[in-house]
Amino acid sequence: MQVRLQKYLADAGIASRRKAEELILNGQVKVNGVTVTELGTKIDDRKDEVLFNGKRVENSEKLVYIMLHKPEGYVTTVKDQFDRPTVMDLIKGVKERVVPVGRLDYDTSGLLLLTNDGELTYKLTHPKHVVEKTYMAKLFGRPDTNAFNKFKWGMELEGRRTAPAKLEIVEDLGKYCMCKITITEGRNRQVRKMCDLVKHPVATLKRVGTGELELGNLPKGKYRYLTEKEIRYLKNL
Ligand code: URA
Repeated sequence: MQVRLQKYLADAGIASRRKAEELILNGQVKVNGVTVTELGTKIDDRKDEVLFNGKRVENSEKLVYIMLHKPEGYVTTVKDQFDRPTVMDLIKGVKERVVPVGRLDYDTSGLLLLTNDGELTYKLTHPKHVVEKTYMAKLFGRPDTNAFNKFKWGMELEGRRTAPAKLEIVEDLGKYCMCKITITEGRNRQVRKMCDLVKHPVATLKRVGTGELELGNLPKGKYRYLTEKEIRYLKNL
């Protein structure tokens, strides 16, 4: 992100913004090896190297961890090529540059984590880490033993067998069944595709849990900051 040099210095705790301006005017600040004395100078806080009296000034954005209840009709990207609403539109109050951890489909609702902690994002989205993701799915029909077994033992999905998953009927609604589904992988539209394969397509899908984190009664479209305990849990996974 482009920021004014004095703001960058102030945010990094070097000095107040006013004082930072003096430091710049005094020639004590270099950007990419060049002394800058122009007050309007903007820098890219991800790429540019800033030195104060010869010492590197680190970008000190605080790490934040957010749980969003994503509604249907939002894409899980920072910017959509078709200009559809994105999950970023729902967290306008967050100043830090967070990104979604993994994704939920446009037509899926529920628990979505966002953070600027790159290390945690990497960890949670890496296939070698097994984190259970739990969904409430309204399925057409009533899954039978065959469907349960396929979830349990795996099914051939796009040339690769799915890892063991859980399917549980929570409520029989006649034409539909409300089911709880737990998977550990994060393949593209995986729950929908698995349900299609057992011939009980998804009518609605909502993620209600990621590991021990629960969506609870967070209202749709709203977000909250994770508690210290939740953050510790994710980091220790
Ligand atoms: N599985 C799906 O099919 N869609 C999602 O959004 C998440 C998991």
